[in-house]
Amino acid sequence: MGEPNIRVFDSPVAASEAALTTLEHTLASRPRALVSFATGKTYATFFAELTERVQAGRIAFDQVRATHLDEYLGFTPGQRGGMVTELTTACPPLGELLADGRFLPVPSSGDPEEISAYEARIEKAGGIDLVYLGIGRNGHIGFNEPGTSPDSSVHRTRLAETTRRDAQDRFPAEPPREAVTAGLQTILAARQVVLVATGEAKAPAVRAMLRGEISPACPASYLRKHRNALVLLDRAAAVGLDATGSAEDVAIR
Ligand code: F6R
Repeated sequence: MGEPNIRVFDSPVAASEAALTTLEHTLASRPRALVSFATGKTYATFFAELTERVQAGRIAFDQVRATHLDEYLGFTPGQRGGMVTELTTACPPLGELLADGRFLPVPSSGDPEEISAYEARIEKAGGIDLVYLGIGRNGHIGFNEPGTSPDSSVHRTRLAETTRRDAQDRFPAEPPREAVTAGLQTILAARQVVLVATGEAKAPAVRAMLRGEISPACPASYLRKHRNALVLLDRAAAVGLDATGSAEDVAIR
């Protein structure tokens, strides 16, 4: 079991930049890497900056392959409020990958055969090299809500009420009740995991992830079983940890 590498930054922007640096390093050594992206507010700066760097030729997307963590049940790739729409709007180069078949959307139907076919495509592509994660206030990663088995593969799931409330501003009426998500096992099988958490609302979940018991009560706690996990925090998200020092990028154990 490897302890995650934890880094704390003075600002959310600095944490996002560190997440991009990881992508640059991965693509430098594996230009055809398969990268799984997260959606959500945490990643807004990341995608804005990623778009700029791809468009400026600083990050080469000519061979990369992509997928993502989760989709609301029944949402088609172009549907408003959906995760693929969010990703391709926030980062148009991902839209280009989608158009030429190098971005694999999560099969939102939840149909077991479609899920198996998606998993087979990931496997055939050599598995996920790098997976980006955010964390829910309840400790979820992807949409693996508390109680999810660590052995879970891609699966259909019911969203927790906190998750639905946090998604309220994406939807004019009721947020969806179900989704299809990469499972904990899917996430842990990636060669490298990067989790970004910013803001004080995430501090209790971050503490549970890194200092609590490794258990289904906090799905993110299973990242402590991964050999190559990087946790990037701003100071507000790290307040529950025993951080010391004033310089940016404090190493915590
Ligand atoms: C989204 C996802 C979720 C979010 C998490 C944090 O694809 O998988 O686990 O990463 O809910 O969301 P934000 O960043 O909006 O706080």
